[in-house]
Amino acid sequence: MVEEGAVREQILALKEERDAVILAHNYQADEVQEIADIVGDSLELARAATSLENATIVFCGVDFMAETAAILSPEKTVLLPAADACCPMAEMVTAGELEVFRSHYPEAAVVAYVNTSAEVKAVSDICCTSANAVKVVESLNETQVILVPDRNLARYVARFTTKEILPWEGYCIVHERFTPEDVRRERSLHPSAEVLVHPECRPEVIDCADHVFSTSGMIRHACTSPSGEFIIGTEIGILHGLSRKCPEKRCYPLSNRAICINMKKTDLPNVYSALELMEPRIHVPERTADRARLAIERMLAIR
Ligand code: 13P
Ligand code: SF4
Repeated sequence: MVEEGAVREQILALKEERDAVILAHNYQADEVQEIADIVGDSLELARAATSLENATIVFCGVDFMAETAAILSPEKTVLLPAADACCPMAEMVTAGELEVFRSHYPEAAVVAYVNTSAEVKAVSDICCTSANAVKVVESLNETQVILVPDRNLARYVARFTTKEILPWEGYCIVHERFTPEDVRRERSLHPSAEVLVHPECRPEVIDCADHVFSTSGMIRHACTSPSGEFIIGTEIGILHGLSRKCPEKRCYPLSNRAICINMKKTDLPNVYSALELMEPRIHVPERTADRARLAIERMLAIR
């Protein structure tokens, strides 16, 4: 078996040869985050995909993230090292189902969380991420808004707007498992810690937290807050970024079981193989990509 250090060297060499950049989500395995050029949340990675000059993007994340990069940069080659890395929540709504739902609310705007397929984005008015969902909804003229697929994000956004939010009944299988009991247990173990949770958590968990942030929002908050301890209510891959960016802070997972198996399908051997073979490659049909791009770019225009 080839040693990890050797694979890392081979990836770096091949990356130059292919004029590639490696983007990794905050939930990726530690060693994948270590070789990435940019590590971030969904919004940061989507923005990066539009501003980078490289011919190839190696996307260490799940399929909808790589699809978003491919839609935004059709001239680039976008590689997803783990071809079967998907987001089960994104699969909880199809374009056909959304169109039927929308036909019942002809006055409503449709906001698609980026955790959706390209086809769903193509039949939506605008996208959002966990970092900008409230701003996106507030930017719309419509007073009725369908938000798919995450019911928890939809209910979180509804707390900050007078618009009527119509949620889809999807959810993240990782964040849905956090409970108020997890918060009580961890607070009793770490009474000085602030509790930070992701908006994909259930409303009753959000009610027990001190702050709600996207994944990169949590890292920024932990680095700048005067508090020295944090209980982190999201996927545990983020603990690596927290320890890199603010090593002096102590961060505890809200639950050790919060692991997204799809985010963990990327490893150094499949990153190397993707660069060597220039496969698996993301292809979004042109017609779908052209329509989905409007919804994503409309989101990116909101600062
Ligand atoms: P962020 O956009 O906050 O990184 O979240 C993406 C995600 O998939 C959360 O489960
Ligand atoms: Fe999808 Fe949840 Fe995994 Fe994020 S953590 S990629 S929402 S399954």
